[in-house]
Amino acid sequence: MDAINGSESFEEIPYADIKSFFDSAPALGDAAETKIKEELEKFIKRNYSPSENGTTRRVVCVTSGGTTVPLEQRCVRYIDNFSSGHRGAASTEYFLKAGYAVVFLYRKGTCQPYCRSLPDDPLLECFEVTSESNITGTLLKLPFTTIFEYLQLLQLLALSMRSLGPNAMFYLAAAVSDFYVPWESMAVHKIQSASGPLDIRLAQVPKMLPVLRKDWAPMAFCISFKLETDTKILLEKANMALKKYNMHMVVANELKTRKEEVIVVTKSGNITIRRDMTQAGADVEEPLVKLIVDRHSAYIGSQS
Ligand code: PMT
Repeated sequence: MDAINGSESFEEIPYADIKSFFDSAPALGDAAETKIKEELEKFIKRNYSPSENGTTRRVVCVTSGGTTVPLEQRCVRYIDNFSSGHRGAASTEYFLKAGYAVVFLYRKGTCQPYCRSLPDDPLLECFEVTSESNITGTLLKLPFTTIFEYLQLLQLLALSMRSLGPNAMFYLAAAVSDFYVPWESMAVHKIQSASGPLDIRLAQVPKMLPVLRKDWAPMAFCISFKLETDTKILLEKANMALKKYNMHMVVANELKTRKEEVIVVTKSGNITIRRDMTQAGADVEEPLVKLIVDRHSAYIGSQS
């Protein structure tokens, strides 16, 4: 295997933990699941089937924003994960500009493509996007809030995009909870404060990256992100994720400087990407997405 394809070895996948996570997760609901599957199928057909309109687009799933962990089934309180959704929204714009069709899997209320400084608001959806590119039909937005919704949607999406082979990409910029309260052991009603201090045991959310790579969409090009606040461990952790989860690239970023600089970790070495400081308002996502698109092209070439 070469640097682009990565190593074939997979870390032992915790299938039992993954099964128990999905089995106990509150279902999206049959109607919602059917609707999303239909939307996805239509979206992929429209953008990927050459017979539909004569052009074939690559499809990227961009995940964006943080997942919540509910503490009560009738949720009043929850644990949240930090993420404004800026990275995902900005990257989506550059992928669209590069000719990709984008499935934007985003946390409700976080930054949106083409209106990054504004909150997610249904009213904004009433306005047409007037960018230089015609994005009608090439952007599909799917919202999530909880870790349960996010991982179920990611699985659904990956299975739908599997048929695209190497033309599919996953760009996993969402900040995903590492710990959760299993649904069956969660309080149903609002937790009462009268009983004194609260002890909660959080279970570990199984890492879905290896199963995404191995089973859900094995040919897709996969980029995960690594966020740390301690620069001393950032690259070590990103390298570990590259190998352990068999990612094609890992984007390492530090909380404070994430809008200025990222380090892309690959099997053939690290590449530092900085935003153009000479241009006011330049985004680090512009050169980042350019690099990723180039690597994706090389990957597709290597598979044909
Ligand atoms: O949204 P912004 O404010 O612009 O900030 C962008 C960002 C800092 C959130 C983004 O650039 C980023 O780094 N996102 C990933 C943060 C994160 O959750 O890192 P992690 O170490 O927890 O997870 C690493 C990877 O494992 C992620 O790609 C995640 O999709 C995946 N993961 C995490 C937990 C889990 N149980 N399963 C997973 O597959």
